[in-house]
Amino acid sequence: MAADRPGFRRMPMVRWYSPLQLANTGARVLISLILETWSDKREIQAALPVDPPHNLSNRNELWLDFVADLGDGWDSTYGIASLLARPELELQDRQRSFPTRRGNVLVMGGDLVYPTSRISDYENRMIGPYRTALPWTEGPEQPDLFVIPGNHDWYDGLTNFMRIFCQGRWVAGWRTHQSRSYFALQLPHRWWLWGIDIQLDHYIDDPQIRYFQDLGRQHVRTGDRLILVTAEPSWIYAKRKGPLLYRNFDYFERKVVRPSGAQLMVALTGDLHHYCRFQEVGGSRQLITAGGGGAFLHPTHNLPKRLGKELKPHPDSDVPEFERVSTSPSKAQSLRLLWRTLLMPLINPEFAALIAAVPILQLWSMQPALSGGRSTLADAIQRASLGDLARASADSPGSVVIAALIVLAMVGFAKARGVKKWGPGVAHGLAQVTVMLVTIWLAGRLAGLIALRGFPLTLLLLGLVAVLGGTAAALVFGAYLAGANRLLGMHDNEAFSALRIRDFKNFLRLHFDESGALTIYPVGVERVADAVPHLIESPIRVAPPG
Ligand SMILES: [Fe+2]
Repeated sequence: MAADRPGFRRMPMVRWYSPLQLANTGARVLISLILETWSDKREIQAALPVDPPHNLSNRNELWLDFVADLGDGWDSTYGIASLLARPELELQDRQRSFPTRRGNVLVMGGDLVYPTSRISDYENRMIGPYRTALPWTEGPEQPDLFVIPGNHDWYDGLTNFMRIFCQGRWVAGWRTHQSRSYFALQLPHRWWLWGIDIQLDHYIDDPQIRYFQDLGRQHVRTGDRLILVTAEPSWIYAKRKGPLLYRNFDYFERKVVRPSGAQLMVALTGDLHHYCRFQEVGGSRQLITAGGGGAFLHPTHNLPKRLGKELKPHPDSDVPEFERVSTSPSKAQSLRLLWRTLLMPLINPEFAALIAAVPILQLWSMQPALSGGRSTLADAIQRASLGDLARASADSPGSVVIAALIVLAMVGFAKARGVKKWGPGVAHGLAQVTVMLVTIWLAGRLAGLIALRGFPLTLLLLGLVAVLGGTAAALVFGAYLAGANRLLGMHDNEAFSALRIRDFKNFLRLHFDESGALTIYPVGVERVADAVPHLIESPIRVAPPG
């Protein structure tokens, strides 16, 4: 890849299934887990000066943009950055056209870069596209930038995040102001926006709780309205995995927001790379996921329809019912995209190459039982029936161990608990073992069609086992992802990260008008190549305070 401009490279979408990426991400996740255990940067941040709330309340009206999960491939990240940079944007729903203006403030809601938080990742995948979209700004309307970290920003313990966003620097044409990984904005007409840092979905640290409690006591008046920006849609995770997943958000609501007198009207987040809005049943509170800043698309067909008791992890939790009102992509579009996982070997050939090593190992472990020391492996395989191969596999301790490891690995990979984990995991593992034997048998038949002997024949056989075995294993893997996702709602992330879909991007444009009302424009880009913005749904109006 040639450098397009000094300082960064245009990057393709992250290939999550490439062997190097798998190893790299695994190592980074491990390091971040160790770092969070031994040193929580948020507690160290308590030594930094306390930021007063950034005060924009003297304005009569204000525009604010929200984007999350950015910093992936150039096309999608730059596509959204260039829309955020435009001074004006005309947006249309079915009936009307709405003139909108670039946000006076840009809020980034976590996962600012992928796959990890190395400085080169930030430069190539996030700062580069944003600097190209808006190299600088001048005059009184220079926009501000406020950010919270997501789990990908935490992969280096937040070191680069703090350097880039928490030292009063410019990031492209946007100016940063915060000194900690969380912040508060005082907006016109008694609106507030708070960005909280939940680290890797862990408890919210004490200094952060105290920061917002002090802010609530000193600056918030009863009846003020609050927009909370957090790095995860814990309301959706709570529905999937139980109310404990909602406890951080709920704790913050009970211990900080409620005593301040503010009304929590809107929660904004990313982490899931799609658009999804829940609205309070019989009310106007909103829970919005808009993680469409550039990262690969996540599906919407497994999202819950209603949220209720799972948002009540504590007897004092005061949570109304919410219902899902809109998603992008639609359920039908999302389902159509899922079947692309059947093309796994074509989409991720390096993954197929990686797992091609397994049937080779299996063949090698079966060699003594198969040839019986009387013939070469190649000759033995050409003569062996499927039954012979199955018997040789069962008689070879190495082969049995490999088969058992495959089944256990697939059980470990199945993201569920109990029967839902073991059932699909064992079935997938057994399918992989069976298909592996079939491909070895098929390789023997095909090798027999070519008149080769000795070493060249062995080489051909190994090549065929690797190519057929890797392709078949990747095919079965893709079919498992599609089936488990469609039938059991599992593996949203694993299935769709494999696809690296750059389309269906989004961001939110918020307008606080003279009357004090808030209007939220959900802006979508269905095809990044076209870069044509549209309204995902009609603008959402949230009534003024009081
Ligand atoms: Fe993300």
